Amino acid sequence: MYVKSNVCQNLLKGTLRFRFTALRSPSYNKGYTVRGSARPSPKFFFHFVPEKLRISLTLSEIIKKLFFLKILTMEIGGYDKVYKENSEIQKEVAGSIIESVLFFRQNKIKKILDLGCGTGRNTSYLKNGGFDVLGCDVSSEALNIAKKNVAGVFFEQCPMSSLSFPDDLFDGVVCNHVLQHGMINDIKKAVDEIYRVLRPNGVILLEVASTESSKYLKGTEVETNTRINVGGSDGHVPHHFFTKEEIQEFFKFFEILQLSHSIHPSELNPEIMSATWKMYAKKQYGKNF
Ligand SMILES: C[S@@+](CC[C@H](N)C(=O)[O-])C[C@H]1O[C@@H](n2cnc3c(N)ncnc32)[C@H](O)[C@@H]1O
Repeated sequence: MYVKSNVCQNLLKGTLRFRFTALRSPSYNKGYTVRGSARPSPKFFFHFVPEKLRISLTLSEIIKKLFFLKILTMEIGGYDKVYKENSEIQKEVAGSIIESVLFFRQNKIKKILDLGCGTGRNTSYLKNGGFDVLGCDVSSEALNIAKKNVAGVFFEQCPMSSLSFPDDLFDGVVCNHVLQHGMINDIKKAVDEIYRVLRPNGVILLEVASTESSKYLKGTEVETNTRINVGGSDGHVPHHFFTKEEIQEFFKFFEILQLSHSIHPSELNPEIMSATWKMYAKKQYGKNF
């Protein structure tokens, strides 16, 4: 390594400073000059280091960054782990999806995105109901199972915060207990993405956990109303618990057609109570990205 690291701590002020000083490397005179005194080796680009790189972070910034990295790792590995260990966690179609069919038919909704489709239980139901449905999920493990379970449907792997579909493609989006598995910034991005991929007057059916849920007080709060280690097979991934006001704020560019709250036995563990928001909302015109 050609980087000498010099850590000086100033904990009295609550500040920790790292100082990295690059030493002249043996390959310094090889390669070609790009800018000033830094020369990359054509073979080993990692030798390309600025002469002096100083990073100064407060202790709380370091803790936040480490914590964010931990969350990110959980998000990537999180649901794959769940599906590897449990295969199909939910097999029966969700009640809200059964109810939605009538609503979608009445509102001439044909092309639907099942966002966070998991192993495809709802995708399959909508497909059999005559809808033109497409499933997406961040977990490749879930999608492998979904592809086996549901014939004739296209499944795409992408995170909710960055959907790989063109603007205005779908008449409807269903998002059943997915949006809650993100940090607040991810949730905001996902709502923007839902808005983007819906055609004007397209409709979203959303179901998310509420702050009335018994899991709300479990685990560790990592952000406002967001907890990890709340128990259950997916307890280690972030769970965000929504308030009514928050949903209204997140979906302010939608016309909320219906927003209802219910408390019922959990689908995964009937011994514990789940509290859920269910919302139908229509994309309105006028949001500029
Ligand atoms: C509780 S399961 C619900 C699955 C499905 N909607 C259902 O009702 O059967 C949550 C799903 O959200 C997916 N998910 C979690 N975080 C996601 C993200 N950032 N982007 C897309 N999907 C995500 C998980 O992989 C998992 O399949």
